[in-house]
Amino acid sequence: MYISQSLDTLISKDNQKRKWWQSYRLVIIGISFILLALAIITTLALLLKCVVLVSIKPQTTIISTIVTSSITTTTVKQQNWINTDRMSNGRNFHTATLLNNGKVLVTGGLSSNPLNSAELYDPSRDIWTITSSMNFSRYHHTATLLENGKVLITGGNDDHNSINTTELYDPLTESWLTVSNMNNERIDHTASLLDNGKVLVTGGKSGNDYLNTAELYDPLTNNWIKTSSMNNARVEHTATLLKNGKILVTGGHNIQVLNSAELYDPFKGSWTITGKMINARYSHTASLLIDGKVLVTGGLNQNALNSAELYDPFTENWTSTTNMNSTRWYSTASLLNNGKVLITGGSNNEILNTVELYDPSKQTWTIINNMTNTRYSHTATILNNGNVLVMGGRNSSMALDTAELYSPL
Ligand SMILES: *[C@@H]1O[C@H](CO)[C@@H](O)[C@H](O)[C@H]1NC(C)=O
Ligand SMILES: *[C@@H]1O[C@H](CO)[C@@H](O)[C@H](O)[C@H]1NC(C)=O
Ligand SMILES: *[C@@H]1O[C@H](CO)[C@@H](O)[C@H](O)[C@H]1NC(C)=O
Ligand SMILES: *[C@@H]1O[C@H](CO)[C@@H](O)[C@H](O)[C@H]1NC(C)=O
Ligand SMILES: *[C@@H]1O[C@H](CO)[C@@H](O)[C@H](O)[C@H]1NC(C)=O
Ligand SMILES: *[C@@H]1O[C@H](CO)[C@@H](O)[C@H](O)[C@H]1NC(C)=O
Repeated sequence: MYISQSLDTLISKDNQKRKWWQSYRLVIIGISFILLALAIITTLALLLKCVVLVSIKPQTTIISTIVTSSITTTTVKQQNWINTDRMSNGRNFHTATLLNNGKVLVTGGLSSNPLNSAELYDPSRDIWTITSSMNFSRYHHTATLLENGKVLITGGNDDHNSINTTELYDPLTESWLTVSNMNNERIDHTASLLDNGKVLVTGGKSGNDYLNTAELYDPLTNNWIKTSSMNNARVEHTATLLKNGKILVTGGHNIQVLNSAELYDPFKGSWTITGKMINARYSHTASLLIDGKVLVTGGLNQNALNSAELYDPFTENWTSTTNMNSTRWYSTASLLNNGKVLITGGSNNEILNTVELYDPSKQTWTIINNMTNTRYSHTATILNNGNVLVMGGRNSSMALDTAELYSPL
């Protein structure tokens, strides 16, 4: 009894040991399989990632390969700018508008003469095609995409005369529709789409007169109505739609260069004076940042400016931020999808090909690769894929028909 009991115990202990060993072996085999599978998956993923990385960065070019006996060093440079197909016309002081179909409509501008021609860029095929010409030649005009998908063109300069005509482009029929004239002839004015679907036009020059007047286009009636006038007459100023629905107008000039800024309230239909900029300036840029502040850069006072400043809609105050590397006016500013602002070209004593990127989180500027061409009075449009199409403008000798694409990294 005692023996059998101890034998039983022994046997049962032995059985337990064997069972434990058997399951331990199974666990080891299981873990080995899992590790092997993980290794295979990781290897495949790395291979695939390489393929994906190579295919999404076609602008990456190997610029030098140094082979030293057994060591190979490869330097890779990002080439941000790619030339696109050319426009049919050289043009500066034109307009460029991203349509709802993803194409870019370019209108008018100045070549040797003012132009009435219009063309479309198709990013998916990288080609420019001619579309119907406007009824009037014009440069220094405005173009605004309406909520109904049509584009409103207003005023401008028709062979050295200011004009009050406006026209409407319908992308579906690729044709121009008649619109009633503005109440004023205007050159170098602004046009902004409001949250209520109307378009606010401000200031500009009529003949020799600097305008403080403003008017609204209503797409439902296809008509213009006067609204309150600004506190200052302004030409070559900026207008920016803020997140609170108001329009911030900054700087510009009349007989003097302005540092004043004012806000239009679409609900009240009236203007109020807001904080003054630190620098008076015209032909500058203004960009709404993701945090709701407005970045103003460059422009002209007596000389071209490199200063930049930020407007805070809550305090209605301006604070200076880091200067750009270059003084510039008639440059472009584009808010990228990553929140940075791309400043291209422009003019100081020279025509510029240089490009700078503002990082609002660090308040710093980074110089990035030059454009292929020097240009001022050009345009820059953010495409639906986040790339920026820069086109036209002038270099020191002529109006440009070239266009180039910037791809954010
Ligand atoms: C073109 O202009 C003429 C007058 O200059 C006018 O009669 C005609 O209606 C205009 N057409 C469009 C589409 O604006
Ligand atoms: C527009 O300008 C034309 C030519 O200067 C003028 O005859 C016409 O009265 C103006 N229209 C308006 C609404 O002011
Ligand atoms: C705006 O700036 C001025 C001068 O720096 C300052 O005195 C004032 O308090 C500021 N206003 C607001 C609302 O922050
Ligand atoms: C502009 O950038 C160049 C090149 O990085 C640098 O040498 C120069 O000091 C910068 N100038 C200013 C005013 O920031
Ligand atoms: C850009 O071009 C200018 C001359 O226009 C040159 O001085 C500068 O070094 C270039 N910058 C870069 C980043 O290539
Ligand atoms: C101006 O642009 C034209 C056309 O692209 C080009 O042939 C010419 O060399 C440019 N001139 C300068 C000074 O960059």
